[in-house]
Amino acid sequence: MLSWDEFDKDDGEEAAKGATATQAAAAGIDKLDNAGGVAALEARAVTADDSEAVKRAKAALDQLDIAEGLAELEGSAARVAVDEKRMINCRADLNQLVPFKYDWAWQKYLDGCANHWMPQEVNMTADIALWKNPEGLTDDERRIVMRNLGFFSTADSLVANNLALAVYRLITNPECRQYILRQAFEEAIHTHAYQYCIESLGMDEGEIFNMYHEIPSVAKKAAWGLSYTRAISDPEFNTGTVETDKELLRNLIAYYCVLEGIFFYCGFTQILSMGRRNKMTGVAEQFQYILRDESMHLNFGIDVINQIKIENPHLWDAEMKEEASQMILQGTQLEIEYARDTMPRGVLGMNAAMMEDYLKFIANRRLSQIGLKEEYPGTTNPFPWMSEIMDLKKEKNFFETRVIEYQTGGALSWD
Ligand SMILES: [Fe+2]
Ligand SMILES: [Fe+2]
Repeated sequence: MLSWDEFDKDDGEEAAKGATATQAAAAGIDKLDNAGGVAALEARAVTADDSEAVKRAKAALDQLDIAEGLAELEGSAARVAVDEKRMINCRADLNQLVPFKYDWAWQKYLDGCANHWMPQEVNMTADIALWKNPEGLTDDERRIVMRNLGFFSTADSLVANNLALAVYRLITNPECRQYILRQAFEEAIHTHAYQYCIESLGMDEGEIFNMYHEIPSVAKKAAWGLSYTRAISDPEFNTGTVETDKELLRNLIAYYCVLEGIFFYCGFTQILSMGRRNKMTGVAEQFQYILRDESMHLNFGIDVINQIKIENPHLWDAEMKEEASQMILQGTQLEIEYARDTMPRGVLGMNAAMMEDYLKFIANRRLSQIGLKEEYPGTTNPFPWMSEIMDLKKEKNFFETRVIEYQTGGALSWD
């Protein structure tokens, strides 16, 4: 059996042999480098077989200035040391993923990939029958399904756009960017899931996708989120001053703590409660997978915010703390209003007052997760089953409706 101890012998003779071998290998690589460089240049030579177009392409490459091209890269060109890595305003090369500084970000990327799912995996047959049956659902239940598909079908696009058009560029850490790319894809899957539900149920797509313009309780939440994207999605915007760094921090709090951390929770609870009562189980299963993704997005965002605070303590002053707290309280208030609008009467064993308690409980969590004082003392969780669903592993299917196997590359046709 091989043992690494054999390789670790601190034996003079072995060490000398090792050094000689390393020198020989380096000389060999130099030789190969030279031969490779010459071969590459020869390939550029124009031959009799070359068409005019190929000749033009080769001639254009003769003008390529490698140094100028590489100067476009973000960060310095040197090899990166862990200590140089920063969450924002980092000057090290951002194309070097390793060495990792934030292992938690890489772990979340791996966990997100391990949780991969697609909307078509979920069987919608029972939902379609129930939705089309005039006796299938009460008016209150139908309102909940419609309002939530209306809110979520556009909310996840707002989150995805904020990530891709604003946050990605400004977070200057490659392992976090790797997770942000994964998250952005998950947001695309979520929008796909809502579209899949809307199409399966034969709903009026124009009505659903326009609720964020037309229904006040939905519009207010979308407008609130968008107001925090405006400044930082300007291509001219850059961090690097106290004010601009704070602007990015505000955006992260708005999106991770409020949009994904509060605005999603009334809807998730309503739809999952429906599934627990064996109604709209396909839609509920889609929401169950989305909620699991969202709780990871939220945790990632909280870690990023707290890391920015650690690296830039001057940003987290009394004024910023007050502002962050106000943002979470405003978000909670908007979500309470959304709960009232979606549940004018008791439905599915819950009502707007219970939801208000739940949202205050969630708000306390969000406040304390970023180091702020809880503002709703003594609030308890009226829906403890929500935490169980969030922790659910993919292989345990809560509603047991899953029938389609996930299709990988093996199902693709290359014709
Ligand atoms: Fe999402
Ligand atoms: Fe999300």
